[in-house]
Amino acid sequence: MKSRMKSKLILFFISLLAIGNSHSQSNSLEALSVHETRVEYLENPQGIDIEKPRFSWTLKGGGRNRLQTAYQLIVASSMEKLSNRQGDIWDSGKVNSNATNQIEYEGSSLESNTKYYWKIKVWDESGMESKWSTTAYWSMGLLNFSNWKGIFIGHDVGYDKTDKYDSLYLPPARYLRKSFQVQKKIKKATAYTTALGLYELRLNGKKVGDDYFLPGWTDYNKRLYYQTFDITESLTEGENVIGAIIADGWYAGYVGYALLVRLDKVREFYGVNPSFMGQIQIEYEDGNTEIIASDRSWKSNEGAIREADIIMGETYDARLENSGWDAPNYDDDDWKSPKVYTHPNGKLEAHPGTKVKSTEVLKPIAMTEPSPGTYVFNLGKNIAGIAELKVKGPKGTRVQLRFGEILKRDGQIQTENLRKARATDAYILKGEGEEIWQPKFTYHGFQYVEVTGYPGKPTLDAITGIVLSSIETDASTFTASNPMNNTLFENIKTTQSANFFEIPTDCPQRDERLGWTGDAQVYMRSASYNSDVAAFMTKFLIDLDDAQRWYGAYPNFAPFPYSRPNQYAPAWMDAGIIIPYNMYKIYNDTRVLEYMYEGMEKFMDFQEDASTDYLRPGGGNNWGDWLAVNEETSHDFIGASFYGYDSKLMAEMAEALGKTEDAQKYMNLFENIKKAFAEKYILADGRTSEDTQTTYALALYFGLFPDALAEKGAARLAEKIEKNGFKFATGFLGTKHVMLALSKYGYDDISYKIFQQTEYPSWGYSVENGSTSIWERWNSYTKDDAANSDINAAMNSFSHYAFGSVAEWMFQHSVGIDTEDSGYRNILIKPAISKEMDFINGSYKSINGTIASAWNWKGNKVVMNIEIPVNTKAKVHIPTGKVADIREGNKSISKTPSITILKSNEKETILEIGSGSYSFSAKPWM
Ligand code: BGC
Repeated sequence: MKSRMKSKLILFFISLLAIGNSHSQSNSLEALSVHETRVEYLENPQGIDIEKPRFSWTLKGGGRNRLQTAYQLIVASSMEKLSNRQGDIWDSGKVNSNATNQIEYEGSSLESNTKYYWKIKVWDESGMESKWSTTAYWSMGLLNFSNWKGIFIGHDVGYDKTDKYDSLYLPPARYLRKSFQVQKKIKKATAYTTALGLYELRLNGKKVGDDYFLPGWTDYNKRLYYQTFDITESLTEGENVIGAIIADGWYAGYVGYALLVRLDKVREFYGVNPSFMGQIQIEYEDGNTEIIASDRSWKSNEGAIREADIIMGETYDARLENSGWDAPNYDDDDWKSPKVYTHPNGKLEAHPGTKVKSTEVLKPIAMTEPSPGTYVFNLGKNIAGIAELKVKGPKGTRVQLRFGEILKRDGQIQTENLRKARATDAYILKGEGEEIWQPKFTYHGFQYVEVTGYPGKPTLDAITGIVLSSIETDASTFTASNPMNNTLFENIKTTQSANFFEIPTDCPQRDERLGWTGDAQVYMRSASYNSDVAAFMTKFLIDLDDAQRWYGAYPNFAPFPYSRPNQYAPAWMDAGIIIPYNMYKIYNDTRVLEYMYEGMEKFMDFQEDASTDYLRPGGGNNWGDWLAVNEETSHDFIGASFYGYDSKLMAEMAEALGKTEDAQKYMNLFENIKKAFAEKYILADGRTSEDTQTTYALALYFGLFPDALAEKGAARLAEKIEKNGFKFATGFLGTKHVMLALSKYGYDDISYKIFQQTEYPSWGYSVENGSTSIWERWNSYTKDDAANSDINAAMNSFSHYAFGSVAEWMFQHSVGIDTEDSGYRNILIKPAISKEMDFINGSYKSINGTIASAWNWKGNKVVMNIEIPVNTKAKVHIPTGKVADIREGNKSISKTPSITILKSNEKETILEIGSGSYSFSAKPWM
């Protein structure tokens, strides 16, 4: 009883403090706290190779209008020194600055194979000092070529190339091992490893790390990524064994649609045999060091993995397991010495992105037996990943797994849409009790697993789904009053997770899985709302830059291993401008702009060269508004509009880099394009010459309409959509921009009607048909099998993120969170409040912390709950011009000194607020 009274009292005082605080700009009562300390966007990264890594953090603190006015960052060579606040490597001193990200390391040169510990503290608006952040660290990888002692090893297997199109060539994985002795006490041990191909590193019987698909996909002729693992805890005194299993992967295996279209090469795009390279660096307590590097003294063999291909699948013969091969006390006398391979020409670098990991484990929700002995497991959603098999039975039994995204009417899995992807795994039992198996070097896009050859009838736990992805989709929340839209949001995230797999792939299931640039650019901003994609996209931009054609065009996909002519297309190649621009806008990243700048200029020159009187025509591979329904937009229109958009973005990026002359040059170019564009494509009545939904969407969103005609153009788009029953006639390009353009010109109601549409073509149509993912085509599936048979059998993915680009509109408009400058320091809160929806509730974890915005009709009033992170400001748009009517909490805003009224017109009042939570209410004009 007593304690309850006490806690009530405490609560009372806390709320008093909170009220007091909300009125004061500077009398904050508690110091700020520092969170999410990152180096190069990553939490405690190991083995980076950036000379001047960049730091970032987020801040928390009660009350309102909380700011950082200064910070101090220290970097130490040991934990002890850091605890004693000794920044022996770097002490920034007190820096008067409000920056919390993109802060470059400025200490002395960082050294190879070295771990650094760091922390920071900040000062707030009243000069109050925070506590130090919890200890964070990063380590540097091998910075010089001379640090590398390993050589590339593996072994050849025979290869008959005569029949490359009609039969598959799937060589076995290679196993490499090395036994070594540790005689002294170890202080630190690190493994630096890589492969041409894919590898899994093993140490004393266990997998090292939790990543899949290492070392990642690059243009191996230009760069090869390596990994750094801290293995101090895994080594023991006495015998230790390091092992590696290597397979073809993207380096030597099947890639993309090459087999389907019978390219000159169908596999081995970078090399024929996979090989492994690496070393363990041991530092002993006594100060001595030792390196165990890949060399001829290792042993090489084959083993249980008989086939291993990303697209085709994996076959494992458990009878051929060399049991204990990766652990001490194993007799490797019959293993051969490895073959040495040429060191590749590509640079050895640390992987800059996020690696593939298991992000979720799924238990099947059902199992059926559509024909005797064929069992189909339903995992409940359409993912990318692998299936783990649990089985018990006689030696030599072959269990086969196939994968499908949907079921046919007879309950069998549909595999026609996989095209040339065999996507089949097999496990051959050793017959020694319960056997559990997962493949290592393949993955599939699927919801259903077909199991055949199973000894007896499997139970539901015979299959477990392992979701694999390079990202976590945890940066946002979204709830609308229409539950269909909430399912849509889940589906968007599921499909993003399935395709952000080392690179942003188009789809995870068929013989494609390529980093299609058009898909990536339309989805970039959406991607960032759902997930922190800063490191992932940094890596992809390196791929894109590496793949730029010599004549300046960015290619259709990156990495680009094929040798085909004219591999570029309007709206695909423009990814080279649009993605870097978004990296700057979202993460305030100018370093990536510097990295890309030369290539971007070259691309602008390429476009200039292709243009006549400022109009860039279509060209290269012309996919137009890919997969549009019922309307067609000319390729020239698309080419010209994207050229205009690029020049505008170039001007902004040049400005951000302090290249004022370039900024002017590109702004002039934009004006010239705009003029030429309007002359050719915009009629005097505000219609476009082609009058398709997509033409309005692009021209309005890119700002290419003459100012006097833009309203008319928007009205025409709204009218067209309405006449079309609030449905799209658009493909990849139009779909992203229609609602953005409508909302830009005040037609939120129409955007909501499209958003909630359930008739074909719409997102709601797929949700109502039970989809758990985003489809490639509006008509990917119809209940009427016959009507769809032609596309089902060919090019029809059920996991294509491109049409999920509505996430950008969902967050920028329906939730209403955007950034005015770069990196969400000056936030825009402008929710599209409409009678078409009862409420919307969303949040986004920006680089500056979580921003939340929710709105809800309460009778004829609307309540807006908003949360703004510490050290940022927001302009909040309240949909009424009657300032006196706007209340925050239970007070009029004019009586709340922490809120500034910026301006007001008939339809809205714009307020400026700082950090904190706010609850506004007003009677909207509509
Ligand atoms: C991919 C697309 C890609 C397109 C180019 C397809 O095969 O799946 O998403 O953008 O080719 O038209």
